[in-house]
Amino acid sequence: MFTVDRYTPTRIVFGAGRLKELAEISLPGKKALLCFIGGSNVQRSGLQDKVIDLLQKNEVTAVVYDHITPNPTKKSVMDGAQVALAHQCDFVLGLGGGSSIDAAKAIAVMMKNPGDLWDYGYTGTGGEKLIVGAAPIVAVTTTCGTGTENDQYCVITNEETGEKLDFTADAIFPTVSVIDPELMLTIPRDLTIYQGFDALFHAAECYVTNGHQDRMVDLYAVESVKTVARHLPSVVKDPGDLAARSEMAYAADILSGYTMALISVTSHHILAQALGGYFPKLPHGASLILVCEAYYTKVCSYLPLEFDELGELMGEKRDPKRPGYAFVQALIRLMEETGCRDLAMSSFGIEREDFPRIAKMTVDEVGISMDRYTLTREDMIQILEDSYK
Ligand SMILES: [Fe+2]
Repeated sequence: MFTVDRYTPTRIVFGAGRLKELAEISLPGKKALLCFIGGSNVQRSGLQDKVIDLLQKNEVTAVVYDHITPNPTKKSVMDGAQVALAHQCDFVLGLGGGSSIDAAKAIAVMMKNPGDLWDYGYTGTGGEKLIVGAAPIVAVTTTCGTGTENDQYCVITNEETGEKLDFTADAIFPTVSVIDPELMLTIPRDLTIYQGFDALFHAAECYVTNGHQDRMVDLYAVESVKTVARHLPSVVKDPGDLAARSEMAYAADILSGYTMALISVTSHHILAQALGGYFPKLPHGASLILVCEAYYTKVCSYLPLEFDELGELMGEKRDPKRPGYAFVQALIRLMEETGCRDLAMSSFGIEREDFPRIAKMTVDEVGISMDRYTLTREDMIQILEDSYK
């Protein structure tokens, strides 16, 4: 017997050119805290001004908060919540990539819950308090990777402890998410690759943890994995290919977003997040790529059916002599096609002596109980060693 929990309340406005509908769609308030990374492309491209103008047409005032950083910090969240409360904002609009939207979600939590954000963390040094409500959230995404536009999670870094924790609450599903692939045509090549692999792993990891129980998870995951394998090489080759960008946005922001709203990712993501917590300049998707070949070589034989199926979805054939290895083969091919197999930990300042604390954070502090196989701290250190270059 199996059980299913399902709650996916976000209204999705998806499609090329649909940003302009921000001027007329129903929004959850009249005064928005507009969150984005200061000095980023959001500002330089004029998108910030365009969004403020569209909100004005919709009779919404925007209070600008541009102190968000990549891998958003607890401090930027706490400060943002203070600004929102001081200006009596009634909702939060995250504009940009996963960092801006995750920060918007955490700010929305701290507008309605007392104390410190870390009181509400469920892992690490979090205080395990229950999140009770949040201000409404609107997401306008300029990237395709995180799926945060369509799920109930946000990831925030504590600059004091080096932890990077997930916060979870139904209240942080965005009310509305605008996903316009035209905003994604200028994503740099590296980020396009990182975000594409992030989307792939969201779907693949959920497919594995789901274990064919809630078949809706598999439907979304299968479509996402196939779509990324087919279209990521195209957008890397031609960043201006709007049709391929649309496919990638659909896979990342909708299909993979749903898989994560329904079930959890694996310790691959926890390990990558631990790396990102200690090395905040390391992009999330890059951290996943750095360890993926060693990680899946280690675990593929534990769930050979699922991993061979994933490999086949990406165009590989299964080899009976190496159960589950089709997924590893497919990853190697996709990394080579997109030119990221040589990505090196050392180029991000990661040293071998960092491995024990990263493994400890992954296994003992954040925890990896969602896996359908058991990896130890020593296994994680070995995966990091095998990945190192
Ligand atoms: Fe991710």
